[in-house]
Formats: sequence, C-alpha cells, structure tokens
Amino acid sequence: MTAATARAYPNIALVKYWGKQDAALNLPATGSLSLTLDVFPTTTTVELVDGPEDAFELNGGVATGTPAARVVAFLDLVRERAGSTARARVTSVNAGPTGAGLASSASGFAALAAAASAAYGLPLDAPSLSRLARRGSGSAARSILPGVSVWHAGDDESSYAEPVASPELAMVVATVDGGPKAVSSREAMNRTAATSPYYDGWVTSTRATLDEMVAAAERGDYTRMGELTELSALRMHASIQACDPPVRYLAPASVALFDRVAALRSEGVEAYATADAGPNVVALCRPQDRDAVADALRGSGLAGEVTVAGSGPGVEVTDGRAGAAS
Ligand code: PMV
Repeated sequence: MTAATARAYPNIALVKYWGKQDAALNLPATGSLSLTLDVFPTTTTVELVDGPEDAFELNGGVATGTPAARVVAFLDLVRERAGSTARARVTSVNAGPTGAGLASSASGFAALAAAASAAYGLPLDAPSLSRLARRGSGSAARSILPGVSVWHAGDDESSYAEPVASPELAMVVATVDGGPKAVSSREAMNRTAATSPYYDGWVTSTRATLDEMVAAAERGDYTRMGELTELSALRMHASIQACDPPVRYLAPASVALFDRVAALRSEGVEAYATADAGPNVVALCRPQDRDAVADALRGSGLAGEVTVAGSGPGVEVTDGRAGAAS
C-alpha cells in the first residue's frame, strides 16, 4: 500500500473563468489568469487501502454528499489512468479560518491531484497535473503553478495552466458576511451560459481581456493589470446578474468595498477590486502597499476578516511513498 501527501494554495483570478465549453471534461469557454496565494493552503493525504470504498475526511470530519461524490469521481479518473482498482482514504485539511473567502476547491483539487497521482504511482509533470486538477474543479488547474499563471482554453490535451512573467503582486482578502451561497458557482455558470443575454459578450470580450492582460503582465504594466482585473470581475458579475432567474453574488457591502478601493486610488494607493462567486472582495495591490490597503479595508467597517497575501508556491508533494499501484 502506498500513500502521499501534497500541499496546494488557493488562487484568485485577475481574468475570470466563467462558463464551460465542455462540462464533462471541464474545458473552459475562455482562458483565465490568476495569482496563486501564500495563505490558507490545503494539505491532503491519499492512502491506498484494502477496503471496498473510498473514505473522505475534511477538516477532521467525515465528508458525505456532493463533496464526497466529487472526490470519488476524481479518484475514479486517477484509478482509470493508473490501471488500479484500489480504494483510498483521503484526509484533507484547509488551513486558516473556514469561510475566509478563498477558493478552497482550487487548492483542494490541486492538492488531491498531486497526492492521488503520487499515491497511485502516476508520474505527472506540471502540465499533466494541471490537466488532471482541472477535472476536479476548473480553477484548480491554476493552483498547480506558483504566482501568476494563465490557464488555456482548448481541448483536453491543451487546456492546462502555464507560468506568466509578471510584476510582483499582493492581495488583500476582505470577507463580507453573506451567509451560505444561494447558488453554487457550477449551477450559476450553467445558468449564465444558458440564459444570460450577455454571455456571448462575456466570452468574446474575455478573450481580448486575457490577451491584453498577458501582454500587460509581460511588460510589467501593473496599472493596466489592475484596470483589467476590475473590468473582468464586473463584466463577469454583470453577465451573472442577467441570468433567468437572476443570481446576484455581490452584497451591498461588496459594492461599497469596490468604492472604497476606488477611493484608495484617488488617495494615491493603487489598488483594484475583484470578487468571485460570492460577496467577498479581494483587493489587488503592489506588495509595498499591502498593509496600507489592509488598514483601509479594516477601517472601512465593511469587512469581517481582512487577510493579507502575497505570491504563493505551486503544488508540492511533501511526503510520498509512491510505488506501483495495487
Ligand atoms: O473552479 P470553479 O468551478 O469553482 O469556478 C471558479 C469561478 C470563479 O472563481 C468565479 C472565477 C475563477 O476564475 O476562479
């Protein structure tokens, strides 16, 4: 029997992924670009066992329902590639406070991809690991890589994340108390594609935004990167809000935080706001401004917890007793 442990960090997209070209293969309608963070890693151990079923323990409790079913489906994929029928015990821990507003599915499936492929004896390079992680959760494809990466749209072979040269970036995560998500991102993504009249515009414009973002990153143009970050977030939310029935993830405090970040810019601190499929707001800034941004967001009274993050590492197998899968 073999076991392996891997650690991966969440990422926040500057150019968002929203919409699939192929749901079964989790191929995105467009490419996206993100920053992998250095806070709140997920550490996951996969141990091959003799039993008849997989077991999944998350943050010290037995997981059931959809989270467990997604892990089993992912392990099935790994087993198929490894030519193994062995079941596994998966133990996963998310560091930091729960509900901090950081994408735990991205770090979770990146860590699971690395730990499971090591435990089942599948030797994978970074592009293959990114392709595999993509099948668990689209954004997980990007958490395989450190720092700034672009996740390409394309086919099953070519849709993976690659590094992009970029100026140093930091992020400040502001939690907004919004209660549990009313609509999952998976469901809202499907609904946007099926019913939002703005979806086609989102897809077409995001292709251009991504090209412009990669060019801005490569020439070290932080200002343009920031402007495009806000543009991508607000365009994504506009297309989501136009669903039938509509979905609105941004709370009044989220919108007020976007305004606070804009006010910071006029005060001379060049920060830009973004938000994923929920009410929490993340401010992008230069590393030297991160404490000033965090102080301003704390002082706004609009946020619950405020967490400062920098550019983080890619996925790492921290302990592996990998061998031929049984
Ligand atoms: O990886 P998923 O399927 O949970 O989708 C993530 C979608 C966003 O977080 C809203 C955008 C992104 O690119 O991460």
